Amino acid sequence: MQAATLPQFGDANTFEITEIPIPRPAAGQLLVKVKAAGINPVDYKTRAGKGQAQYFTLPAILGWDIAGQIVDTGQGAHKFSPGDRVFGLSHFPNPANAYAQFAIVEEEEFARVPDNITDDVAGAAPLVTLTAWEALYDHAQLQPGQRILIHAAAGGVGHIAVQLARNTETYIIGTASAQNHAYLKELGVNESIDYHDQHFEKNIAPVDVVLDAMGGETALRSLDVLKPGGIMVSLPSMFKNDPAVLAKAKEKGVRVVWMSVRPSGGRMEQVASLMASGKLQIKVDASFPLREVAKAHQALETHHINGKVVLIP
Ligand SMILES: NC(=O)c1ccc[n+]([C@@H]2O[C@H](COP(=O)([O-])OP(=O)(O)OC[C@H]3O[C@@H](n4cnc5c(N)ncnc54)[C@H](OP(=O)(O)O)[C@@H]3O)[C@@H](O)[C@H]2O)c1
Repeated sequence: MQAATLPQFGDANTFEITEIPIPRPAAGQLLVKVKAAGINPVDYKTRAGKGQAQYFTLPAILGWDIAGQIVDTGQGAHKFSPGDRVFGLSHFPNPANAYAQFAIVEEEEFARVPDNITDDVAGAAPLVTLTAWEALYDHAQLQPGQRILIHAAAGGVGHIAVQLARNTETYIIGTASAQNHAYLKELGVNESIDYHDQHFEKNIAPVDVVLDAMGGETALRSLDVLKPGGIMVSLPSMFKNDPAVLAKAKEKGVRVVWMSVRPSGGRMEQVASLMASGKLQIKVDASFPLREVAKAHQALETHHINGKVVLIP
């Protein structure tokens, strides 16, 4: 099979397309023909030797988001059968080898893809849907009637978080470039802020929850709009336990949580049911064949993707 392999960490042009043996599933595992592999910022961070690079040995195969068709099942794996279409966040943060034509996944981390969902959309879904779900419901315990500020609301995690917050009947404020404001309105955002020329902290009334996809200065300023007792869930792990953010949160009487997404087949089933009913729509901005993996990474690294980028191995 073909795989996009990294002989060393580096820029997007470091990938090589190589021929490697098709792996075999062990107990509890599935061999999946990969139909689509979603790309996330953690992929390019890891490619550059940061992100989750500590979990990899070289040569490495990146990618954690997988949608595909089951080809073979390991001993004791009986939730699915060969031919079933499944999707999930595989082995994160350990290597999952998604940028390849076949991959081994854990049965317990995967769920069935609804019949009305295409492979590219399914491949784009796992990491961002699990992240938004964990952030809003497990950490922030978002309730109807609350007010939430979602940064990078048109991005991968953001566009999912907006839809979950809309389904929960909250008041949503989203930050994005002006050209994305019409899209945010369609998704259910009540107030859009152009982060290029508007200071959100001077323009909005206090909120109960902030979803911070940026960290640094944005995280610090976000504490100014939280109600006392409110919570900010912060995503970029490079800012984890930022002392300036912790000190300001303490002074203001608000909470900050840095989360790290986890695979979950059960959660993917809940996501699948929302996707099947149309209550959660994943936007694929661009898809690339495996040989164009460099272009796919470069597209995501512009940091202005609307929704998601996927690889089609
Ligand atoms: N800890 C975890 O478990 C976890 C999980 C998932 C993601 N993350 C991290 O969360 C971050 C976001 O991930 P993602 O997949 O949503 O990224 P993404 O899709 O690449 O984000 C792109 C979006 O960011 C927006 N943006 C750029 N600069 C901005 C700014 N200064 N203020 C507000 N929005 C801005 C862009 O909006 P415009 O195009 O409208 O300008 C674009 O829509 C990444 O650092 C990622 O690694 C962490």
